Amino acid sequence: MGIIIKTPEQIEGIRRSSQLAAQCLDFIEPYVKPGVTTEYLDDLIEKHIRENGATPAPLNYHGFPKATCISPNNVVCHGIPSKKIVLKDGDIINVDVTTILDGYYGDTSRMFEVGEISDKAANLIDTTKHCLDLGIQQVKPGNKFGNIGYVISRYAQSKGYSVVYEFCGHGVGLEFHEEPQVEHISRRNSGATMKPGMIFTIEPMINLGKAKVKVDKNDGWTARTADDELSAQFEHTILVTEDGFEVLTDIHNEY
Ligand code: MF3
Ligand code: CO
Ligand code: CO
Repeated sequence: MGIIIKTPEQIEGIRRSSQLAAQCLDFIEPYVKPGVTTEYLDDLIEKHIRENGATPAPLNYHGFPKATCISPNNVVCHGIPSKKIVLKDGDIINVDVTTILDGYYGDTSRMFEVGEISDKAANLIDTTKHCLDLGIQQVKPGNKFGNIGYVISRYAQSKGYSVVYEFCGHGVGLEFHEEPQVEHISRRNSGATMKPGMIFTIEPMINLGKAKVKVDKNDGWTARTADDELSAQFEHTILVTEDGFEVLTDIHNEY
C-alpha cells in the first residue's frame, strides 16, 4: 500500500508505454477534422496501439466500452467515443490515451482544435496547458503533492476560470490508478511528500464557467460541466527524479 516507488526496470517499462501513449496523440492529429466521428478516431487509435504490441487500458475498465476517452466542448472527461458524435468546425476536444505495454501503463491527453476555434476557447486551452506546466514544475523530491493543486488553482482562478475537483491525477505505472490522488485544487504544503521513483499523472480540468460536474445518467461515464460551458484538460505522466522530474509522456523534448 501507500505510494509505490518504482524500480529502474519498472521505470523503463513505464517510460516506453508512456512514449507510445504520447505517440498515439501525434498519430491522430491529422485525422481530427470537421465531419469525422469520435468513434472513427477511437478505432484508429486502438489499431495503432495494437500494431505497437500494446493494449488500450480504458477498454472494459470498470465497464468502459471503448479504447480511449474523447471529450468535446462541455465534456470534462470520460467521453465515450461514438458514431453519433460528429465533430464540427469550432469544436475543441480532449483525446485521452492510456496504453498497457509489457504490463506497464502510460497515460496522457491533450486538446485538439477542430477547424477554426473561438478566442475564448483558445484562451481556455492555453491557460489549461499552462496549469499543467505549473504543476509539473512543482515536482521534485521533498515537495508536497498539495503544492501542485495550489499553483494550478491559483493560476486558473486568476484568469477567471474554475478547477474541477471531482476528478484527480493519480499514481500510475503498475496499475491504471494507484495512490496518491493528485488534486488540482489544494492547500499549500498539504498532502504526501514526493520521493524519487514515484510516478503519477497531473491532469487538470479547467472550466470556463463553474467547477461543478454532472455525470450522464444514461451511460454512467460522460462527465459534463453542470452549466454546459466549455472545459479543457491536458495530462502527462511524470517521474520524480533525484533532482526534479522527468515527463515520461513528453516525446517532443518540451520539458
Ligand atoms: N485516462 C483517464 C485518466 O486520465 C481515465 C479513464 S478511465 C476510463 O485517468 F474508464 F474512462 F477509461
Ligand atoms: Co490519468
Ligand atoms: Co488519462
